[in-house]
Amino acid sequence: MRFLDACRLKKVDATPVWFMRQAGRYMPEYRAIRRKASFLEMCTDPAIAAEVTLQPVRFMAVDAAILYADILLLARPMGLKLEFVKGEGPVLTPPVRSAKAVAALRAFDPDVELGFVMDAIRLVRRELAGRIPLIGFAGAPFTVASYFIEGGPSKDYRWTKLMMHAEPRLWAALMAKIADATAAYLRAQVAAGAQALQLFDSWVGALSREDYLRSVKPWSDRVLAAARRTGVPVVTFGTGTAPFLEDFADSPADVVGVDWRLPLDAAWRRIGKRAIQGNMDPVLLFLPRPQLKKAVRAVLAEAGGRRGHVFNLGHGILQETPPDNVRAVADWVHEWTAR
Ligand code: CP3
Repeated sequence: MRFLDACRLKKVDATPVWFMRQAGRYMPEYRAIRRKASFLEMCTDPAIAAEVTLQPVRFMAVDAAILYADILLLARPMGLKLEFVKGEGPVLTPPVRSAKAVAALRAFDPDVELGFVMDAIRLVRRELAGRIPLIGFAGAPFTVASYFIEGGPSKDYRWTKLMMHAEPRLWAALMAKIADATAAYLRAQVAAGAQALQLFDSWVGALSREDYLRSVKPWSDRVLAAARRTGVPVVTFGTGTAPFLEDFADSPADVVGVDWRLPLDAAWRRIGKRAIQGNMDPVLLFLPRPQLKKAVRAVLAEAGGRRGHVFNLGHGILQETPPDNVRAVADWVHEWTAR
């Protein structure tokens, strides 16, 4: 299969393409279901999660499905309250800012407490019947810790960085708990049928290289190594990683996800013979067709036909994106790279 082959730097008949957040509110079919159920209800009902995972697969020629779920689902079995508040995003209570709060976080059995995710994976695999692979995922320890500590989204990561610098031992204890829970969660996803894994470190670009190397990379690598041992290809994704891309790429992952801030040819020069996933700016999906075509051609030109390119955006599809544009991009990538 194209996507899995590209992850392993094998020859492919055309560049594989999928989109982060390919299931979501930009699709009318998604909104129709979302009107009747909350986001968490959708995630925790395997039939709905499976259906929504398959919506983009039916609509366009993507080369992978990604499970409909969220990086914060593991907060609940670890003992936090998780809500999604309209206009605010995820809210976690109580924020994890003390030794007592870290100690209270529980280890859990993902097959039991996130069994609905495993059921959704089995349903999707049955429906896909081998046509394209299913990607499972989790949040990377830093990005997940930032939500745990801040209690929700943050602009400055104030409490997170304060813990990292002022209480390194507490930080390490928190990262170890999140990393171990995440590794177990990813292993369970593969056992249930996930055929590739992606670790989302969406906010890692908020860090300096020094902070990344000292306080984050060891924990991300622990999760990536565990993911890799399952035998499926593993993607490590971050945004804003250009200042420390060599270090970010120096990991057990097979594929490095990069955003649009760095052209793909520059990324390849810096990390050598590795598979790369990316990196069109999601905003460009709003462009009129002629300019959109140019934007896709530009990414493909930077990829230069190298083995191991997985076409994707540099971050998730935005809410009001025209679905037909997304579908057209998938078709163009296949058409223009067919060999
Ligand atoms: O890519 C996919 O299609 C798979 C599904 C997926 C979701 N979240 C569904 C979702 C994935 C891979 C994620 C990962 C995720 N979740 C990340 C990392 C990726 C990234 O975008 O950086 C982060 C940071 C989260 C946490 C989270 N979940 C946020 C910040 C939000 C936005 C809140 C909002 O109000 O928009 C969510 C909600 C969420 N996760 C939605 C979806 C489809 C929107 C739910 C809805 O209201 O319909």
